Amino acid sequence: MTEHISLVVNGSTRELDVEPRRMLVQVLREDLDLTGTHVGCDTSQCGACTVTVDGRAVKSCTMLAVQADGRDVTTIEGLANDGQLHPLQTAFWENHGLQCGFCTPGMIMAAADLLERNADPTDEEIRHSIEGNFCRCTGYHNIVVAIREAASAMRAGATAPNAAGAAARSKAGTTAGSAASTAASTRP
Ligand code: FES
Ligand code: FES
Repeated sequence: MTEHISLVVNGSTRELDVEPRRMLVQVLREDLDLTGTHVGCDTSQCGACTVTVDGRAVKSCTMLAVQADGRDVTTIEGLANDGQLHPLQTAFWENHGLQCGFCTPGMIMAAADLLERNADPTDEEIRHSIEGNFCRCTGYHNIVVAIREAASAMRAGATAPNAAGAAARSKAGTTAGSAASTAASTRP
């Protein structure tokens, strides 16, 4: 048995027939080929699968695809536009906020949610915003620096390239740069 759902993914309306038991991350990766959203734990622990739904960060391994019916979903692929990086992606790239890159798409999407709600977060607030996202490589320091730098750049006028596309997606707007975009598109 399947259910028909309609959702907006990275600005495009997508119509799908899905089994009610399938998780959003499965539909994104397997049906829509958006493999930048990673699967680490599959149990809501690591945050690798983080996307935004109606502008709020969600662990897509714990949300049923049918729950996304009628909603606006943004994945890491939705941040870029014509090669123009979002300030977050630029900041991760320039501040070495990644090493292997596996956690990076989820980190950036969690940070995008934060910066949408808080344009000038403290380091404590930044750390709190990514407490559900695990990184095995960086020690988190440069990730915090990158998010702080992105916030500063956005306050100074840097904008997401696709900001006009959807208000719920307004926070993100760049391709992950060479390193981050490579990470975003790598299958685990
Ligand atoms: S894969 Fe979803 S939280 Fe780890
Ligand atoms: S950069 Fe490797 S897990 Fe974060």
